[in-house]
Amino acid sequence: MSSDTVVVTGGAGFIGSHLVDRLLEHGFDVVVVDDFSSGSVANLEAATRFGSQLKVMRQDITDPTLVEVFENVSPRFVFHLAAQSDVRRSMADPVLDASVNILGSLNVIESSRRLGVERLVYAASGGTLYGEPSLASLPLKETAEHRPLSNYGVSKKAVLDYLTVYREVYGFAFVALALANVYGPRQDPHGESGVVSIFAGNLAAREHCVIYGDGEQTRDFVFVGDVVEAFLRAMNTGAGEVFNISSSTETSVNTLYWEMAKLYGAIEEPTYLPGRPGELRRSCLSNSKAREILSWQPSFALAEGLSKVIEWVGSKG
Ligand SMILES: NC(=O)c1ccc[n+]([C@@H]2O[C@H](COP(=O)([O-])OP(=O)(O)OC[C@H]3O[C@@H](n4cnc5c(N)ncnc54)[C@H](O)[C@@H]3O)[C@@H](O)[C@H]2O)c1
Repeated sequence: MSSDTVVVTGGAGFIGSHLVDRLLEHGFDVVVVDDFSSGSVANLEAATRFGSQLKVMRQDITDPTLVEVFENVSPRFVFHLAAQSDVRRSMADPVLDASVNILGSLNVIESSRRLGVERLVYAASGGTLYGEPSLASLPLKETAEHRPLSNYGVSKKAVLDYLTVYREVYGFAFVALALANVYGPRQDPHGESGVVSIFAGNLAAREHCVIYGDGEQTRDFVFVGDVVEAFLRAMNTGAGEVFNISSSTETSVNTLYWEMAKLYGAIEEPTYLPGRPGELRRSCLSNSKAREILSWQPSFALAEGLSKVIEWVGSKG
């Protein structure tokens, strides 16, 4: 492969596959490293038109042979998105979560260091990193204390700590993007912010939507196309830093529901069930650091991004 080869771990997943599409369009040779545990071949369908520019490796990031894969392709950049990305699963099976998200990530980081990769860009989790914020601290900046309240949040945070050690000890160049609640086409309803795809699926099928709690809990929804743009910008600037990638806007689950219901022409009230333990009440991340240093800003308004999801759900039939 060429000197402009990049590895995308988790490239068959929701966010990773959109990143793969954009990297191919930019002329990179892309190697997808994915075990297809939650990703799918369908997510890579659009990318196959790039022929030999795309290489797909069915590979578990926890496997010691990962370094050989890296040796074979000599990547210039590594985008590390492979993860066990389901918060509830991390509570049901914390050992699996830690195995993939901590040990697997360490395997990716160590393989990248050994191969002299120019930069690793990591998909951190802004939605779980900071825990429940005080009202006065919203929108949360990157300097806020890291107090995850789920096993998933802990495992994703641990990687930031390892990256910091690698930066200090080896001068390893990384950028960590602390992603808010990402939504968009190809999203699996079981992921971190599956609420958009769950509502879309139900509304499209004219089925009832369920809201856990009173629906006034807030989230910070950022469109996948904007997130991919942040990954691209992180290739050239911001080394050694963590950036929130977010809309910096709080949207309640009730507001989200009615925005989507309107787009589907639905007028039914959702069903309210008791709130789920461990869910954050408020979530909103400041994106001012990304604006300043990465020259990044979200360009999709919520209604625009939701229309794209609805279009995608419709195209699946
Ligand atoms: N979706 C969000 O809102 C969000 C928010 C914050 C952070 N993130 C992070 O962004 C990244 C991508 O998330 P996503 O929503 O696209 O999730 P996803 O589940 O769609 O993608 C994860 C990918 O990793 C692959 N994978 C899982 N275990 C693996 C293993 N052991 N070896 C190789 N591949 C493996 C899966 O098959 C999948 O393709 C994850 O690291 C996630 O923690 C996502």
